[in-house]
Amino acid sequence: MTQDELKALVGQAALAYVVPGQVVGVGTGSTVNCFIDALATIKGRIAGAVSSSEKSTERLRAHGIQVLDSNGVEQIPVYIDGADEIDQAGHMIKGGGAALTREKIVADIAERFICIADESKLVQTLGRFPLPVEVIPMAAAQVSRRLRALGGEPALRAGVVTDNGGHIIDVRGLRITDPAAMEFEINQWPGVITVGIFARHRASVCLLGTPQGVRTLSF
Ligand code: A5P
Repeated sequence: MTQDELKALVGQAALAYVVPGQVVGVGTGSTVNCFIDALATIKGRIAGAVSSSEKSTERLRAHGIQVLDSNGVEQIPVYIDGADEIDQAGHMIKGGGAALTREKIVADIAERFICIADESKLVQTLGRFPLPVEVIPMAAAQVSRRLRALGGEPALRAGVVTDNGGHIIDVRGLRITDPAAMEFEINQWPGVITVGIFARHRASVCLLGTPQGVRTLSF
C-alpha cells in the first residue's frame, strides 16, 4: 500500500469516532484531507465542524460542511487530526503544516484527540522530525538563541506566515525524552505563540495505517 492509501484508510476509519448530531473538531494536513473527504459522506449527521486552519475550512466548505466559529462552541466530543510524529504514549510533534496553534486550540476545546497517521509517524522518542515553534516575528532571534541553548539547531521556515501572522522556527537535533516538560518550558518564553509538542493535549487514540490494516492504539 502507498502512503496515500494508508492515509485514506485511516481517514475513513476515523468516521467511526464522529459522534452523530455533534460538532466535530477538524485538524489540518494531507491525512486530515482524506478524513474531510470521508466526512462529506456523513455531513447530514453532524452539527458542523470547528476547523484548525484556513486550508481545512476551505476544503470543508467545498464539501458543503458547515464550519462553526470556535468561540461559539462550548464543547466538542472529538478532535481528529494527523501528526508529524507520535510516540507510544500518544505525545506528538505537530506543525509541519504550520497550523499548530489553531490545532492546539481546537484540541483544547475537545474531550478526546483522535490521531490519524500512517505507520511511518510512530517513533520511540520524539525529535527526529524538526520541532516547529510558532513565534511572534520580533521574538524569532531571541527564541532561536534559547532553542540553541537547549541543544537544538533552529532555522526559520522561509516565506511562511501562519494564519495568525506568526513565523515558524523548525528545530532539528532535539531528543525529546520528557515531552511535557519541554512543552511547558518552551511555552513560557516571551514571544512563543505555541510549541509543536502536544503532550498536555496528547492523543487518546491513534489510528495507525499499516499494510495489514488500521492498528488502533489507545493511550
Ligand atoms: C499541521 O500543522 C500538522 O500538525 C499536521 O497535522 C501534520 O503535519 C500531519 O500532516 P500530514 O497528515 O500531511 O502528514
